[in-house]
Amino acid sequence: MGWNSWNTFQGNINEKMVMEMTDAMVSSGMRDAGYIYLVLDDAWMAKERDPNTGDLVPDPVKFPRGMKFISDYVHSKGMKFGLYNCAGTLTCAGYPGTRGYEYQDARFYASVGADYLKFDWCNTEGINSIEVYTTMSKALKKAGHPILFSLCEWGTSKPWRWAAPVGHLWRTTEDIGNVFDGTKNMGSWSSNGAMTILDSQDTLRAYSGPGHWNDPDMLEVGNGLSESENRAHFSMWCMIDAPLIAGNDLRKMSVSTHDILTNKEVIAVNQDSLGIQALKYFSKDSLEIWIKPLSGGDWAFCFLNRKTTAQPVNFNWNAQVITDTLSKRNLDTKTLVYKLRNLWTKKEAGDTKKPFQARVGPHDVVMLRLGR
Ligand code: GLA
Repeated sequence: MGWNSWNTFQGNINEKMVMEMTDAMVSSGMRDAGYIYLVLDDAWMAKERDPNTGDLVPDPVKFPRGMKFISDYVHSKGMKFGLYNCAGTLTCAGYPGTRGYEYQDARFYASVGADYLKFDWCNTEGINSIEVYTTMSKALKKAGHPILFSLCEWGTSKPWRWAAPVGHLWRTTEDIGNVFDGTKNMGSWSSNGAMTILDSQDTLRAYSGPGHWNDPDMLEVGNGLSESENRAHFSMWCMIDAPLIAGNDLRKMSVSTHDILTNKEVIAVNQDSLGIQALKYFSKDSLEIWIKPLSGGDWAFCFLNRKTTAQPVNFNWNAQVITDTLSKRNLDTKTLVYKLRNLWTKKEAGDTKKPFQARVGPHDVVMLRLGR
């Protein structure tokens, strides 16, 4: 869990903003809700490496006191610090890439106290992804400082198949955009709405687990979606065990955005120690039911309405035993009684003896926790 500069700021980052964001993570309660990493994405560097040493150089105008200064500041607030680079010759925004400098750059990250590296995939023509991400992984392990490794190769070579020993999270898709469904025209390319990304995640659940996560990209909560869309996007990212990397301006988020991002009971579903990604149990007429086994025999249950009009749900717990063949767990509401807790209204919602009836608003969710 953390915050990353890209979704709101792209290359418009600087020392003052980053320090303010660090302060906002503390004052807003984001840090205490679990958002520990502050990650600078693309465009933190100068356009050239140091001509004498070949080291990466922080942009001297944006970051006049360098990266160790920022890193120390973030650490002084009880958080961890992350940086970005790219496996290719240049980053996506045209700054010096790491190709051929893997060990040297890893030493640079360690020297500034970085705890996290996001490693992108632009300008990699002719490069073997498994080879280069493995090399960077080895370099980070040798660097002398623990560094979480975030693979950002957009799912191109199916990293879920090979990246568990290489890194801690891997992007499963191309970039997210601030739309709920469909795609967003970005000029020469298109970004994906949250629901569009969600559609390709269910088949990947077997690959995700503690220490090696599918990453369906960062959060767009607070970046222009409606309140219900923010809630639905966040709930689903929690259900599918996505790394929760906020991407909004924390210095001026609305109360509603704050309350969504810091809902502890919803976050607890995401952070559950079993680390079993939710499965799509039901899908009809744009109403989906996703379920997720939780520790202690609990389950999360999320009704997702992808329509622009409200839909009723009437779920009869006594009609079936749900089997998750992957985790080999059964939700037996035929014979066992579970209590229901609505995680967004934060209220008890009866138990599984009676059918659950609710109205799911347009582009919204009803999210329950079942416990005994
Ligand atoms: C790629 C990544 C994004 C972001 C940008 C930065 O598009 O997928 O998440 O890091 O590059 O240029």
